[in-house]
Amino acid sequence: MINDSLIQKVKSTFLKRFDAEPILSFSPGRINIIGEHTDYNHGFVFPAAIDKGIVSGIQKNNKNHCTAYAMDADEAFEFSLQKIKPIKNGGWKNYVLGVIAEVLKEGRIIYNFDLVLAGNIPPGSGLSSSAALENSIVFGLNELFNLEFTKEEMVHVSQKAEHNYAGVQCGIMDQYSSMFGKKNQALLLDCRDLNVTYFPINFEGYDILLINTNVKHSLAESAYNQRRSTCETIAKHMGVSTLREASYEKLHAVKEKITSEDYQKALFVLEENDRVLRASKALTNNDFTELGRLLFESHKGLQNQYKVSCPELDFLIDQAKQNPNILGARMMGGGFGGCTINIIKKGTVDAFINTITPLYYEQFNKNLSQYELQISQGTYKIE
Ligand code: GLA
Repeated sequence: MINDSLIQKVKSTFLKRFDAEPILSFSPGRINIIGEHTDYNHGFVFPAAIDKGIVSGIQKNNKNHCTAYAMDADEAFEFSLQKIKPIKNGGWKNYVLGVIAEVLKEGRIIYNFDLVLAGNIPPGSGLSSSAALENSIVFGLNELFNLEFTKEEMVHVSQKAEHNYAGVQCGIMDQYSSMFGKKNQALLLDCRDLNVTYFPINFEGYDILLINTNVKHSLAESAYNQRRSTCETIAKHMGVSTLREASYEKLHAVKEKITSEDYQKALFVLEENDRVLRASKALTNNDFTELGRLLFESHKGLQNQYKVSCPELDFLIDQAKQNPNILGARMMGGGFGGCTINIIKKGTVDAFINTITPLYYEQFNKNLSQYELQISQGTYKIE
C-alpha cells in the first residue's frame, strides 16, 4: 500500500527518538465532488477521503513535558500540558496545541506524551492536510489515554482546534470526511444534523483528476472568515438561524435591504445546496453528463457570485470546458488557489495535461501538478 513507507518512517523515527513503540494511526485528506462553502451554512456537501494523509505515532513518556516532532518540517518542540496556548505564527504546532486545548476543555485527563507526525498530502493543495493533522492527533490521544470520545466528538474537537488555534472559522466538512470516509465511497453529508448517506463512486470510463494551480493567495483565510460572517449577517436579515433555513422567496424579500454582492453570495449558497442534491440524484442514475454540468455551474457560481476563485483556477476551468473529454470541472475547497477537480475520460489525462501545462506556464509563470487519487477509508488505527 502507498502509505506503508510513511508508516514505517514514523514508526522507526519514533523508536529512534523516544525509544518506545508508538500507537500509530492514519488520517486522510479529502476531495469534494460538489458543495462548496455550504457546510458552515448548515447545507450539503459531497466529499470523500483520499489515500493521502497524515500518520501519527504517539506514546506516553515519563518526563515532565511533551515532545512533538514533525518529520516533514524536521522540527521538534517541547511543551507543558499546564501551559497550553497558541504560538504566534506557530504553523503545525498550533494544530497540536489546539487539539490538546480542546481535549482538556472537554474535561479529559491526559499525561505527558511524545508525538511524531509525517504526511504525504501535497502542501497548499487544498486537500485538507490540517483536518487530517487534527484528526490524527485527537484520534491518537483518544487511543493512548482511553478518552472514550466518539468519532463524532473527535470531529468537533478537531474543528474547534481549527477555529481557536488556527483562526479559521471552518465548517465541518473536512474533519468529518477525514474521520468518516469509506473506501470508494463519497459522503453526502447534511451539515445541519450530520446525517450521512454513502455513495459508491465509480464513474465508468471516467477518472477524477485533480490539478494543482500551485498557488495559495494570501487573502484566503481572512476572505474565508469574511464569507462566513457575511452569510450569517444575511441569515439574520431574513430572521433565520442559517442560510439552510432560507428559501429563495425569503432571500428575494430582503433583496433591497442588502447589497447586490451579498445577495449574490447568499443566492450562490442556496443554489449550491440544490446542486449537491441534484448531483447525488445524477450519481444514483449514473448520469455523469449531468454531474459534470453541475460541476461547471458550481464553478461559475464560486467565481462570479461567491467570488472565491482566482485567475489561475479560472484559467484551468476554461481549458477544461474546451476539452470534449472532460464532463465537468470546478475549483475545490476554500478557494483562492489549490486544486481543480475534473471528471475526465480515462486515458486522456496525459493529453490534457500536456496541452495545458505550457499554456499555464506562459500565463502565470508557474508549473501545474496533477494527482489521480484513490477514495479511501477515514481515520483508523494502524494495527
Ligand atoms: C475549507 C473549509 C471547509 C469548507 C471549504 C469550502 O476547506 O475547511 O469547512 O468550508 O473550505 O467548501
